Amino acid sequence: MKNFNVRILSNEPVADDVFRLTLEAPELAKTARAGQFVQVKVSDEFTLRRPLGIASTAGGRVKIFYRVVGRGTEALTKKIVGDWLSVLGALGNGFDNPSGKVLLVGGGMGLAPLLCAAENFLADVLIGGRTKAEVLFWQNEFAPHVEKFFITTDDGSYAKKGFAIDLLPEVLSAENYSAVYTCGPEVMMRGVAKLAMNNNLPCQVSFEKRMACGLGACLSCSIDTTDGRKKVCKDGPVFDAAKVFGGDDVG
Ligand SMILES: Cc1cc2nc3c(=O)[nH]c(=O)nc-3n(C[C@H](O)[C@H](O)[C@H](O)COP(=O)(O)OP(=O)(O)OC[C@H]3O[C@@H](n4cnc5c(N)ncnc54)[C@H](O)[C@@H]3O)c2cc1C
Ligand code: FES
Repeated sequence: MKNFNVRILSNEPVADDVFRLTLEAPELAKTARAGQFVQVKVSDEFTLRRPLGIASTAGGRVKIFYRVVGRGTEALTKKIVGDWLSVLGALGNGFDNPSGKVLLVGGGMGLAPLLCAAENFLADVLIGGRTKAEVLFWQNEFAPHVEKFFITTDDGSYAKKGFAIDLLPEVLSAENYSAVYTCGPEVMMRGVAKLAMNNNLPCQVSFEKRMACGLGACLSCSIDTTDGRKKVCKDGPVFDAAKVFGGDDVG
């Protein structure tokens, strides 16, 4: 893990309140693994860095997708092409290299780290979102990297109406996946983990917790696992689903 000063190549809105940030970062791109994240120093105004998932490392560039939720991400939208950004990474562990085709299941901004997995592994993706606008840009981002995509929208404005978890049994029965990787709202990941385990498939979940140091020093991101207390920033953010949700009480 290193601190990189990287140049912003683009920082543009791609959907409601969602921005795509592209950084010229060849050294970081070369070493980062799918599922890892960076700590971004937005400006001197903010003491704490903001953790953001690595969504792509292709061509020596690191791509990040972020939703504007508070002061830090709002300030990030003001950065322009040519500005420099201090980025600490790559942090955390990342997804395992799967032995065969993997099914990626994501909701909302949880799709960002899964995009990097699609870039690196043989994969299909199941995208869940609230509306057509929310899922369309993800569909475009994933399209060059996956064999098949499956899409649900909560409001039925595009593709199948319902939640990703509703479509999952059908998707799992149609193909022999080697594993399921998921990231998104915790309730979705729990449901995905349960179905994957019921189908005897290994499942890895990528967790989000409020972070301060991002380096394993402050304990603010601890979670309980079957192996005891773990830090999401250092021991995760990717965990074996059975260890974080427990075998039998999943769902
Ligand atoms: C490993 C990891 C990967 C992430 N990847 C992405 C991503 O790819 N895209 C994306 O849009 N968001 C991602 N997040 C969430 C993102 O970090 C927060 O939305 C962001 O820090 C909010 O900052 P803010 O200043 O705008 O909001 P505020 O609410 O003003 O933030 C206040 C403080 O709380 C922290 N904080 C707030 N929400 C979160 C959160 N959900 N997780 C961790 N810290 C938080 C901030 O870092 C800051 O220190 C990720 C979080 C983690 C832990
Ligand atoms: S954020 Fe400090 S230990 Fe994880």
